Amino acid sequence: MIINRIPALIIIAVLIAGCGQKNAESSLKEGRVLSDVRAVVVSAHPQGSHAGAMIMKKGGNAVDAAVATGFALAVCYPAAGNIGGGGFMLVRTSEGAHDLIDFREKAPLAASRDMYLDAADDVVRGLSTDTHLAAGVPGSVDGMIRIHAKYGKLDFREVIQPSIDLAANGFILTAEQASSLNRSAEMFRKRNPEGCAFVRVPGWKEGDTLRQPDLATTLERIRDYGREGFYSGLTAKLIVEEMKRGNGIITSGDLEQYSAVFRKPLSSSYRGFDIVTCPPPSAGGIILLQMLEMIEPFSPAEHEFHSPEMIHLIAEAGKRAFADRARYAGDADFISMPVQELLNENYLKERMAGFDPIAATPSSNIGAGDPVSSGSTETTHFSVVDEEGNAVAVTTTLNGSYGSGIVVKGAGFLLNNEMDDFSVKPGFPNMYGLTGSDANAIEAGKRMLSSMTPVIVEKEGKLFLVAGSPGGSTIPTSVFQVIINLIDYNMTPRAAVDTGRFHHQWLPDRISIEKNSLTEKTAGRLQKMGHILHEVTALGRVNAVCARQNGFLEGVADKRGDNSASGY
Ligand code: GLY
Repeated sequence: MIINRIPALIIIAVLIAGCGQKNAESSLKEGRVLSDVRAVVVSAHPQGSHAGAMIMKKGGNAVDAAVATGFALAVCYPAAGNIGGGGFMLVRTSEGAHDLIDFREKAPLAASRDMYLDAADDVVRGLSTDTHLAAGVPGSVDGMIRIHAKYGKLDFREVIQPSIDLAANGFILTAEQASSLNRSAEMFRKRNPEGCAFVRVPGWKEGDTLRQPDLATTLERIRDYGREGFYSGLTAKLIVEEMKRGNGIITSGDLEQYSAVFRKPLSSSYRGFDIVTCPPPSAGGIILLQMLEMIEPFSPAEHEFHSPEMIHLIAEAGKRAFADRARYAGDADFISMPVQELLNENYLKERMAGFDPIAATPSSNIGAGDPVSSGSTETTHFSVVDEEGNAVAVTTTLNGSYGSGIVVKGAGFLLNNEMDDFSVKPGFPNMYGLTGSDANAIEAGKRMLSSMTPVIVEKEGKLFLVAGSPGGSTIPTSVFQVIINLIDYNMTPRAAVDTGRFHHQWLPDRISIEKNSLTEKTAGRLQKMGHILHEVTALGRVNAVCARQNGFLEGVADKRGDNSASGY
């Protein structure tokens, strides 16, 4: 009797669990802007945000949700979400403590300073971006596992499961994703002659389902064996075999030795707000804090929003910050980097001493200061806040769109092309036009310089903003503008994220400006001041969460792309 009842009881339990899941899902709010929520994830893809929000619904905290979203994006946002790349995760606990995990990729042990130069010492085009040699040792899996072990509440297996389901069952492509995959089809074919999941004949269209069975089994190995499921065993073997096929240099020793590191975040204040952000090996945090400090004495809010005076001031601050980046920034585990000196208030006052309010200073007249650039849109950022007030800002990347475009055969994930973020030759611009010096030269085991800028802003000890962006060199300036839009221009969170952006990175000496964001009159005035203007389609994709005074949260997904918020 009892034995006969067991299957029935199991069926009832499964049905109840299924109903519970459906109820939890239907009580989630989803959209580009979510107001008055208590917990929210904002990411580059609706399924990524959904996975994280569901994990919080099941009792997980913001770190559980961030890890679930990170793995889900590795499936449903292959242009930048990844397990084959790296990034940074900034955490603020509900008690107000800050922590950061650096899971940036590392140069393989066989890497060397001149590995991308030919016999005449010229850079071999494409070697650091399009080949197996372009890949740094991936850090995302180790980073996610370590941060989860430190702060997660739910079992890791539960947190990673949504990504496995998405990979195995597939997810629905958006229009933007379908056309992006079609545009990249030729590249995928060339770099994966035996085929890969991202190519479809005659092409993808919106609403198609993309399934990634190899990736699903790799994620299952990570679920079942943790770090060993990626850095040793079958996945590691597949990576090493892929390297052999394409003359890459990542070995099993590189994979075994890789370790993410906890670091102390950088912090500074701006007009009574505390800004907490990423330390080296990202230069993004330093650029952000330098620019805020440089403009503060000039009271930007006294200038009308997007007036020539406002844009001029910020462009001039940007030139000086990026000139310092090119000279001083690198992996502080390998070089001595004057971080505190670069952030010193008096030093930054001196940097702006030559600022002319009515004329541009040519970049050729601006060198680095004396205190003792990078990224396509295909990095990705997600912001998470849970009901208890734990907040997480995560930026991860493969570097270029779809990284190197090389999929590890049998393992189903894309390899990064992060080695291009090193200075492959002093003064030679990387794919984002950024140059560097010896500080960012290639060395075995060193981390390449980044621009990623996850940020958490507080006011009087209370959470105010969680944000970050993709966009290489334009990351810190995009994040910077959202901060001043909120603080100096009192914009709503949605307006602060959506309004047009601009960017100056010292070299090339020009202001990049989003199409249709300035009046002709303003553009003309800037040109008269001596600025060269360069129109671009989009700068950054900021995914932000703002804490409102009524105690609720507002999640804002950037209108530039498929970004989406999910919460309750
Ligand atoms: N690969 C882009 C960055 O790290 O800045």
